[in-house]
Amino acid sequence: MNTESVPGERTGEISGRTDPARVAVGNQENRRGRVGRSTQGDEMTWNVHRPPRADGKRVLVTGGNAGIGYFVAEQLAGAGVEVVLGCRDTARAEAAAGSIRARVPDARVAHVRLDLADPASLESSVDSLGPGRLDAVVQNAGVLVDGPRRETAAGHEMMFGTNHLGHFALTRLLAPLLSATPGSRVVVVGSITADSVRLDLDDLDDGRDFRAKRAYARSKLAQMTFGFELDRRLRTAGSTVSAVVAHPGGALDGLTPARPPVHAPGLGARARSLPARVLLQGKDSAAWPAVRAALDPEVTGGQLWGPRVFGLRGLPVVHRVRAHLVDPMIGERLWAASADLVGGEPVFAPGRQGLDERQEVRDVG
Ligand SMILES: NC(=O)c1ccc[n+]([C@@H]2O[C@H](COP(=O)([O-])OP(=O)(O)OC[C@H]3O[C@@H](n4cnc5c(N)ncnc54)[C@H](OP(=O)(O)O)[C@@H]3O)[C@@H](O)[C@H]2O)c1
Repeated sequence: MNTESVPGERTGEISGRTDPARVAVGNQENRRGRVGRSTQGDEMTWNVHRPPRADGKRVLVTGGNAGIGYFVAEQLAGAGVEVVLGCRDTARAEAAAGSIRARVPDARVAHVRLDLADPASLESSVDSLGPGRLDAVVQNAGVLVDGPRRETAAGHEMMFGTNHLGHFALTRLLAPLLSATPGSRVVVVGSITADSVRLDLDDLDDGRDFRAKRAYARSKLAQMTFGFELDRRLRTAGSTVSAVVAHPGGALDGLTPARPPVHAPGLGARARSLPARVLLQGKDSAAWPAVRAALDPEVTGGQLWGPRVFGLRGLPVVHRVRAHLVDPMIGERLWAASADLVGGEPVFAPGRQGLDERQEVRDVG
């Protein structure tokens, strides 16, 4: 990767402002990697190293061949989930699947070709998933263009077009599969950099005054805004599908355990990253919020999950959602503009509850 690079250490991802107040209070971490959820008044615990078994579930992870997405896939496979890696490069997908199989006995891993920057290709990606259940899609793939403005095949600014519009279009195509799987989830992977920017709804493609880091942060903000807006719409529709937003904090390749041939940091990179361990983490730990958002039965739609320590590293906890992320006027305008740009919107069938509620209205009316 040259102009497209790893969000994180090579991209200034971690330079986003951090507000300790965002970290949920009342969550307590112990040495075994468990979080007691005292804020929710229950005894529920979550062990990031041993999530509950989820055999029989199937989850699609976009960008599951590298970085955080790889570890999301590895951890889900370790819990018994059938994982489908959505990747733009078949050789890299096969290498990741091989690495997961080597580490997780009886892992069920498949991959489909998926290029978010080429929305026209997504229909065949979804077709290759075939029929059957889809319990979650983890919308992890992301790109950061560290240089001049570039465009996708569809003519959109590369980061907005890939990170947001690509996932918006994918959600639309996955809606029938997700609707047919009771309790399924859309897990949107955002970033704390979204705190430092606002969307320009009149110039979503950043055509006027392109600044690479701001455009990246805006693309992540667009994804998160979409996630919360999607959840509102799902609730209104009475769907059993929910949307949850997760962010990984700050993760460096140099702090990430080796997974050759997928990831093999040299000694130099490791040594240079060591001082950053105070605040940041490896991509294995950065995967925890998304894994929990996908699997924890206690997670509810519209929540924001992220690392416990200053929102940058540590065990996954619920974070307070900032007002600009859930402003319904912004959510609606972004939704309408995105639907316009990709030629349609996600439509989810009502679930049992929705059907029952509508029946009741008809009965009394
Ligand atoms: N690292 C951090 O500190 C950090 C902080 C906040 C948020 N995030 C978010 O976390 C997610 C993962 O970040 P990461 O650090 O793991 O990044 P990474 O190591 O660069 O991995 C990015 C993944 O996205 C895939 N991808 C890129 N463009 C794609 C496209 N057009 N179609 C399909 N897949 C594509 C890449 O595939 P290839 O291998 O083919 O390039 C790769 O699998 C991103 O959404 C990022 O914005 C990261």
